[in-house]
Amino acid sequence: MPIRGINISNISKDFPMSIKMKDKVVVVAGGASGAGLAVSRRAVAEGAQVHIIGRSPSNLGRAQGELGASVRTHVADLTVEADVESVIAAIPAIDHVVTTAADLAFKTFLQLDDADIERSFGAKFWGPVYLVRHAAPKLNAGGTITFVSGSAAYKATAGGSAVAAANAALDGLARTLALELAPTRVNVVSPGIFDSPTWDFLDNDLRKQTLESFGASLPIGRVGTVEEVADAVFFFMSNGFATGTVLQIDAGANA
Ligand SMILES: NC(=O)c1ccc[n+]([C@@H]2O[C@H](COP(=O)([O-])OP(=O)(O)OC[C@H]3O[C@@H](n4cnc5c(N)ncnc54)[C@H](OP(=O)(O)O)[C@@H]3O)[C@@H](O)[C@H]2O)c1
Repeated sequence: MPIRGINISNISKDFPMSIKMKDKVVVVAGGASGAGLAVSRRAVAEGAQVHIIGRSPSNLGRAQGELGASVRTHVADLTVEADVESVIAAIPAIDHVVTTAADLAFKTFLQLDDADIERSFGAKFWGPVYLVRHAAPKLNAGGTITFVSGSAAYKATAGGSAVAAANAALDGLARTLALELAPTRVNVVSPGIFDSPTWDFLDNDLRKQTLESFGASLPIGRVGTVEEVADAVFFFMSNGFATGTVLQIDAGANA
């Protein structure tokens, strides 16, 4: 019988995502902030059991305060394999792994030293490597891995060479993993500029001005939101036909 225009017998088709997320175990590396927090928030709302990984106990505590006590938090540095191994070992079964974590060095190439480049590859590339190494063997049937890279890989920006290389490395890694780890699905969301705490290093006026000016240069006239990035992550968690895909959501920056 239709209720508010929705045929209840078709409910799994009308609301495939919420039903698919109920009681699923979702690990979000970087989930205490920005796009990762938006993924965690929505996963909790859809009934998933969420585990958040980050370095800062206070950021994790703040996220748990917002999302509720059902969320498990894990203090770990993604650049340290032993940290990642012990977090993953503590979670008995996992359905979805998402990593949004990044700690990047923006400098022109001739100013970059090895430590800057290692920093950019740390959470962004080695984090996913360690997560996949330890989580992939224990993913449940129907499991997914989603990396968040970034449009710096496709749209050159002065000062972004190390970041571009780290993002591009993730895109390449995911395509091979989609083949090797199948039927686990492995995908990448590559966002353009979006409003998140990553921009909080700028003072309020400059932050607003910078994001507005980026936005004005784009076909849709604005930068993205954390929810829009999370939405793309949810697409990959729920769409059983998508694997080895890099989804660029960048307001048409490359159009
Ligand atoms: N925001 C943008 O405009 C933009 C544009 C293109 C691409 N991206 C990409 O989109 C993703 C999400 O960005 P965002 O702006 O939402 O991020 P964000 O708010 O800056 O959050 C990054 C998260 O990563 C965690 N993290 C960093 N290094 C870590 C490490 N070594 N171990 C564990 N956790 C670590 C941080 O927590 P702790 O510091 O507590 O560890 C934080 O929770 C990133 O990969 C970013 O590069 C962002």
